[in-house]
Amino acid sequence: MTRFDGSLRLEGERVLLRPFGPADLDAITTAMREGENFLPPNVPSGGDPLHWWLSQGVHDLARTGLGLHLAVTDRVTGGLSGAIGIWGVDWPVGAALCGYAIRRPERGRGLATDALRTLSRWALSEGGLRRLELRIREGNVPSLRVAEKSGFRHEGLLRAADRDPDGGIAGQHVFSLLAADLEAGDSAAGTRRLVGVGVGPGDPELVTAKGVRILREADVVLVPVMAPDEEGRAESVVRAYTTKAERVVFALNDRGGVTERRAAAWDAAAERVVRAFDDGAATVAFATIGDPHVYSTFTYLAQTVRELRPGTEIAAVPGITAMQDLAARSGTVLAEGAESVTLVPMTGGDAAFTALRSALESGDTVVAYKFGSVADEVIGALKDAGRLDGAVYGARLGLPGEEVRAARELTGPVPYLSALIVPGVRRGGRGGRL
Ligand SMILES: C[S@@+](CC[C@H](N)C(=O)[O-])C[C@H]1O[C@@H](n2cnc3c(N)ncnc32)[C@H](O)[C@@H]1O
Repeated sequence: MTRFDGSLRLEGERVLLRPFGPADLDAITTAMREGENFLPPNVPSGGDPLHWWLSQGVHDLARTGLGLHLAVTDRVTGGLSGAIGIWGVDWPVGAALCGYAIRRPERGRGLATDALRTLSRWALSEGGLRRLELRIREGNVPSLRVAEKSGFRHEGLLRAADRDPDGGIAGQHVFSLLAADLEAGDSAAGTRRLVGVGVGPGDPELVTAKGVRILREADVVLVPVMAPDEEGRAESVVRAYTTKAERVVFALNDRGGVTERRAAAWDAAAERVVRAFDDGAATVAFATIGDPHVYSTFTYLAQTVRELRPGTEIAAVPGITAMQDLAARSGTVLAEGAESVTLVPMTGGDAAFTALRSALESGDTVVAYKFGSVADEVIGALKDAGRLDGAVYGARLGLPGEEVRAARELTGPVPYLSALIVPGVRRGGRGGRL
């Protein structure tokens, strides 16, 4: 195919996409007077662009294979809600740009998402294209949401490539959807996926590219919080990439086994996931600090969802752990040559101290987590083992109030988000532990 059909009509759930015609003149003129631009990007300058466009431009676009420009109308009322188009077609490659505009009073009803889903699915199948590209001004949050909800994948940010509404210069996000993405999605049709996304210790730059993609593509993104009106730690990271984070309350600060509050929270969160699937969500992402398989609530949530909905696919995107971040920020080597690394959570009472002491005796690397309430005793154990020198302490890594310092300087109460690395005893110079 090297051209489009100028009389194309496509039906979405709420919209009908159809060619513009002279009957739209009044509505377009009004919209343009109100500062809204429904013209496609390749209207020739000079003359009366509106007249040119309505009389022949729309058909020229399709006939010459340069693009398509369709009216977005409300399926029920028939009213003109906006425009959507495809242009800049490279037929040999099968790639094109697309864009949309919805009139202000019609925004917030999901029309842009419906129109984009409808046009892109057609363009990447019967339309003969392989790739559709969207470019969205940095900060245009509603439009970024439309791209995400329509399954477009974020590819990057073009710096200083757009104008912002105040006349300044802004970056431009590039998104794409491929025919191959749709084929992959179709073959997985019907499967429901819960993905635990590790978002690192706190610094949004420490989320993996895959993590960002899943957060953006997921239909629902859940973040664990301690109270509904308090921002969660994973949430503060996730907000850098998507606006769709929804809070689910967990008893994150409970101690002492499977408390009633803990179990009730796991059940409620799993029920929320299942409800999302029942409402049509294909992918639910659960964001968790650090890595989803290292002391994370994701483990319990996944187990509960599996019990409620046995067919659910459970997946995880690894995240950078607090110990890796502390190693990087303090310049501490976690492991060399034949050394082992022992990670000890200090919430286990006497057994935890026994494990800590025996790990310290080995002379290898020891990492302590969750020692906020027993920090003095932990430091005492390091001193007794002669391992305090060289040990490093990090609190609230990547978050406001971050601290990284030598463990020997540790005094007073320490926050829950604190980690400690006691590096292996390394004698014998370079490569001594090989
Ligand atoms: C429930 S565990 C979560 C571990 C996390 N899933 C990981 O992979 O690092 C909580 C413990 O992780 C450590 N931790 C997590 N994030 C941290 C941060 N930003 N700064 C310091 N320690 C952190 C602390 O030891 C804290 O007590």
